[in-house]
Amino acid sequence: MLTLMHDVVVIGAGLSGLRVAIELVDACDVAVVTKVHPLRSHSVAAQGGINAAFGPSDTWQAHAFDTVKGSDYLADQDVVELLAKDGPRAVIENERWGTAFSRTEDGRIAQRPFGGAGFPRTCYAADRTGHNLLHTTFEQATRKGVKFYNEWFATSLVKSGSGVCGLTALEIPSGEVHPISAKAVVIATGGYGRIYARSTNALINTGDGCALALDVGVPLKDMEFVQFHPTTLYGSNILISEAARGEGGLLFNSKDERFMKNYAPSAMELAPRDVVARAIQTEINEGRGFENAYVHLDIRHLGKDRIAERLPGIREISIHFADVDPVDRPIPIQPGQHYSMGGVDCDKNGTTVLKGLYSLGEAACMSVHGANRLGGNSLLETLVFGRIVGVAVKDYLKTTGRVEKSNLGGGLRRTTERMQALLSKGTGQSPSVIRSELCSMMNQYVGIFRDSQGLSIALNMIKSLQERSRKMTAGCTDSRFNYALIRALELQNMLQLAEVTAVSALAREESRGAHSRTDFPKRDDQRFLKHTVVTKTKGRLVVGYKPVNLGMFQVKEREY
Ligand code: FUM
Repeated sequence: MLTLMHDVVVIGAGLSGLRVAIELVDACDVAVVTKVHPLRSHSVAAQGGINAAFGPSDTWQAHAFDTVKGSDYLADQDVVELLAKDGPRAVIENERWGTAFSRTEDGRIAQRPFGGAGFPRTCYAADRTGHNLLHTTFEQATRKGVKFYNEWFATSLVKSGSGVCGLTALEIPSGEVHPISAKAVVIATGGYGRIYARSTNALINTGDGCALALDVGVPLKDMEFVQFHPTTLYGSNILISEAARGEGGLLFNSKDERFMKNYAPSAMELAPRDVVARAIQTEINEGRGFENAYVHLDIRHLGKDRIAERLPGIREISIHFADVDPVDRPIPIQPGQHYSMGGVDCDKNGTTVLKGLYSLGEAACMSVHGANRLGGNSLLETLVFGRIVGVAVKDYLKTTGRVEKSNLGGGLRRTTERMQALLSKGTGQSPSVIRSELCSMMNQYVGIFRDSQGLSIALNMIKSLQERSRKMTAGCTDSRFNYALIRALELQNMLQLAEVTAVSALAREESRGAHSRTDFPKRDDQRFLKHTVVTKTKGRLVVGYKPVNLGMFQVKEREY
């Protein structure tokens, strides 16, 4: 089999992957491996906006402060500084490339308030900001000649000595597995939200890159911090953007109370996501929801014209998926998994412990969001760190020589064996049954509220699902477009990430940001102002810790 060769391979073609590739394409031979067409990447689903502190009234320091406070002081403050300082440049760059941002009357990029922000700093393109940014960035990557392997599924990373020497990937249309040699590999595969049943994430968000990294000994960091978005549509959990509250939407329980007054009396509906999600879930749990399952998000008072101008997507989604026109009726919403704060442990340049392996975006944990991400910072992270990681990889290439390819054969053999086991005929366990048991269990025991008993139950159940997964068969033996096989491979990754999430959550005996332990309801800076790092050693998960980079802002209690 022919070994494909590139200087750099980026895995994932969302905004992060595309922005890195654009940075690299003039300097080296870069290729992007992506399991879906780039325009189907999950960045396309981001709705409400991208944060940037455009002066003179707003400052990068204010943006940094809101981010650190929102993170419940777990964010690394040097990384936050990079994000906030570079925000305006990153937004303008994309605007010049062609993103059609909404405008103020005097022609500037329009900005709206978002949760946990002391200033209206979220730039938007109606409620389809990710869609606009992704299309523009993909156009630029195409114009610059980035090479794409569309519908290729990365199956393993291959090491040589203390560094990475490439990967293997399954070409989905043909069913062939290819070794690809690379001096550097960048993981930009997004989050792993689909380990939860109720999630705003696309079905593709199975955390494949995180699982690949863990498998070659790279730690995953802060995986217990899973963001639940307060407002997802009841029934389907499609995202109902925070923009709805930013534009003035209000939350009501079944007693017709604006209950946020009891949880965040000053920020109300615009408290950070962890606070609002917990408030909604508490209302539901204590019997003040509708049908024991949801509360109301009311935007009727905004009027039809403003809804059409600012929230057209939200209106369409509510009409098509809940049969509710928000012009006339409140939207039924409940919290749903939305974002993974944890991911591949890396520094602010995306560097991991494995030489030549980099990561960024939702797949990574640079610790820019700490224990809770603010809305609008995720799109920003992709563009800011896409450039920074691209520069770091270029520097790395200057120091590295020819890549050792001999280990790629071993990678190919292992992947082929893994696939053969899943393709073997017979009646093994069904991946879809295991997957749905996993996802419901994660919502039940590793959800918004957790405790030691529930987390221990979760871990036992994950172990037993992992055991069953060893006997699973894909159920389809075709070589071409075998999506049954892809689902089975993804499930192996998901089971691994679910275990890391539960192990990390059990070890963190405090409540901080999105991690809320009912048996340890207080934040405990003494014991836990530190990052969790989980490594896989000889097949077992080992939990360790790393210090937080503090500096700019003093650690305080959060109040909203
Ligand atoms: O609510 C939203 O529009 C989501 C934005 C984000 O996750 O940053």
